Amino acid sequence: MNVLVTGGAGYIGSHTAKELARQGFSPIVYDNFSTGHRWACKWGPHVEGDIGDGEKLARAIKNYNVQSIIHFAASAYVGESVKNPRKYFSNNVSGSLSLLNTALDQGVQNFVFSSSCATYGIPNSVPIKESTAQIPINPYGETKLIIEKALKWYSNAFPLRHAALRYFNAAGADKECETGENHDPETHLIPLVLDAALGKRDAIKIFGTDYPTRDGTAERDYVHVEDLARAHILALKKLDTEGESFSCNLGNGVGKTVQEVIDTVASVSERQVPNEEAARRAGDPPSLVADPSLAQELLGWKPQNNFEDIVTDALRWRLKTH
Ligand code: UFG
Repeated sequence: MNVLVTGGAGYIGSHTAKELARQGFSPIVYDNFSTGHRWACKWGPHVEGDIGDGEKLARAIKNYNVQSIIHFAASAYVGESVKNPRKYFSNNVSGSLSLLNTALDQGVQNFVFSSSCATYGIPNSVPIKESTAQIPINPYGETKLIIEKALKWYSNAFPLRHAALRYFNAAGADKECETGENHDPETHLIPLVLDAALGKRDAIKIFGTDYPTRDGTAERDYVHVEDLARAHILALKKLDTEGESFSCNLGNGVGKTVQEVIDTVASVSERQVPNEEAARRAGDPPSLVADPSLAQELLGWKPQNNFEDIVTDALRWRLKTH
């Protein structure tokens, strides 16, 4: 099956393209390279284009006889989204709607969407189930929720089925070190803590030490990017064979606080991590941890990597590339 991977030159997209190819699918990367990397397009052809460019997209779908799309392309910095919501509504909402309409016009059948636990906002209970109210507290989460809602109504009215995969915090890297996390600027916790441990940056700032968590620092559910990649293929297969649309959480079900991340990096890298306390970052919920049981039930998905594996693989990639 030919699968168009928008944002396939990015972090989660490139790992998924690799996994698609490994499992005998043909990934076609569609990326405008605004944040993606040409070096990350290694597992099939790529088309340089914007998701909002309907003509180019339609041509790519026709040329490669695409039946399925996995849609990663998006702006994905929570902090930036608070400061510049315009960019997020434009790229993530207008861009995705345009993509969706082109997909529909071209007769694409399966659509897997990169959604986020950021759609839940501050959940009323943790671990978070899919039935938890989705009330985002930042524009990034809002834009993902808007597309989830559009997908629901589109699937109801049109012959397009979808899976909305709500990722928790993607982390780690390809075990063969062929691709990995490489954002510019890097704002994600694990690569920054690794850089602090490796002496490549000054002290890591801990954003908020007065959260209602076990040590006062914010808690997240870090999930290995290879496990996420596998979940996309399982979701695609389920859509293709059973035809029912669905949404599910993708997380390990285990929370790590910022302090615990620092401690694990220190122990895995056998180095000290200089750190300092700082104010909370706008738009950050205190605790986001998945209840991943639905993904297990629907997809048979079970993460194969624990938090130490995530840090070990992220460290290997950081050492190779930075
Ligand atoms: N943090 C720090 N210091 C830093 C960087 C981050 O204390 O220098 C903290 C953040 O405040 C947060 C935690 O570490 O509490 C994780 O922050 P990240 O920026 O690594 O990740 P986020 O949880 O903000 O966001 C990520 C992705 C989003 C996704 C979201 C879901 O970037 O795309 O996870 O929670 F939607």
